[in-house]
Amino acid sequence: MADQAYVTLATNDDYAKGAMVLGRSLRKHNTTKQLVALIGPHVAEPSRATLSSIYDEVRVVDIMDSGDTAHLALMKRPDLGVTFTKLHCWQLTHYTKCVFMDADTLVLSNIDELFEREELSAAPDPGWPDCFNSGVFVFKPSIETYYSLMTHCIENGSFDGGDQGILNSFFNTWSTADISKHLPFIYNLSSIAIYTYLPAFQQYGHEAKVVHFLGKVKPWNYSYDTKTGKVKGHTPTLGSDDLHPDFLVQWWNLYSSRVLPGLKDAYGGAVFCTGCTEDKTSDNVVETIQAPLPAQKSSMSSEERKQRWEAGQADYMGVDSFESIERKLDCFLK
Ligand code: UDP
Ligand code: GLC
Ligand code: MN
Repeated sequence: MADQAYVTLATNDDYAKGAMVLGRSLRKHNTTKQLVALIGPHVAEPSRATLSSIYDEVRVVDIMDSGDTAHLALMKRPDLGVTFTKLHCWQLTHYTKCVFMDADTLVLSNIDELFEREELSAAPDPGWPDCFNSGVFVFKPSIETYYSLMTHCIENGSFDGGDQGILNSFFNTWSTADISKHLPFIYNLSSIAIYTYLPAFQQYGHEAKVVHFLGKVKPWNYSYDTKTGKVKGHTPTLGSDDLHPDFLVQWWNLYSSRVLPGLKDAYGGAVFCTGCTEDKTSDNVVETIQAPLPAQKSSMSSEERKQRWEAGQADYMGVDSFESIERKLDCFLK
């Protein structure tokens, strides 16, 4: 269906990895819909190329940030102001109906039946079930709705500092008006819910169609051993902010088999995060991917480079560029 699409958002390279896995998971389950990734201007070229190999449309959008530190602090998620950027999805008017999915969601079976639903359909939020969770929702692109949402943002702000607060106050009859707009919880199953009601998860968990890695820690913050099939550094605590180990492994399986090879190619087969960790080159370990440093000029030793630097002859456009230094710092800080 050319006029219906799944839409996601990635403002940076980390969330782009999530978007890649999400796209692969939709393809794996034979969706007939178009796939659209909205990306921020800072998403690196290799990530864009990899997204383009999975998505039908990769569209750069301006970042919109609520800047609402007070409400974001209440959620303990200062990083979520940029989720206002999601609202751009209403501008995709070359589609008649869309399903938005957070980049931290993973599809476990075909969910194309969601397109039979109307705007705004979504599943309850596990923290406050009279609100919908905005990680998965059905919507109808419309410039009019987009501008009404913008006006609503300006006039009322968002009660959580992110898109979910805005969308719930804008579509404020969701909890009462029309039950067909309540998606079953299995279309947006979050770890928080799993651990707050474990018996229900045992009873219904096998029916899950979409898992949502909601919370501060995301699958890409871990690394993975392809030999043992284990996620490194993850000890399930059954705590409310924990990620479910089976779903985490599924995410990593898809990432290491269907995303990472293409992403490495896009980065020119470079070794990622040179000098960052000791075991980075071990074959069986897939480290969380980092943008590689720009190719070093092999003709110059590091001693020679240091001397040039000290003599005020830094290679500002090459190895000593700000971008290169920033990446190196990021690498060490990680
Ligand atoms: N997002 C993004 N960059 C960010 C933060 C969020 O692109 O820095 C997008 C991404 O699609 C993400 C969604 O906004 O899945 C919502 O954020 P997140 O999933 O982290 O929120 P949570 O579901 O954990 O509350
Ligand atoms: C929620 C949703 C997420 C949304 C965020 C900010 O927890 O899962 O999709 O972006 O809140 O409102
Ligand atoms: Mn999310």
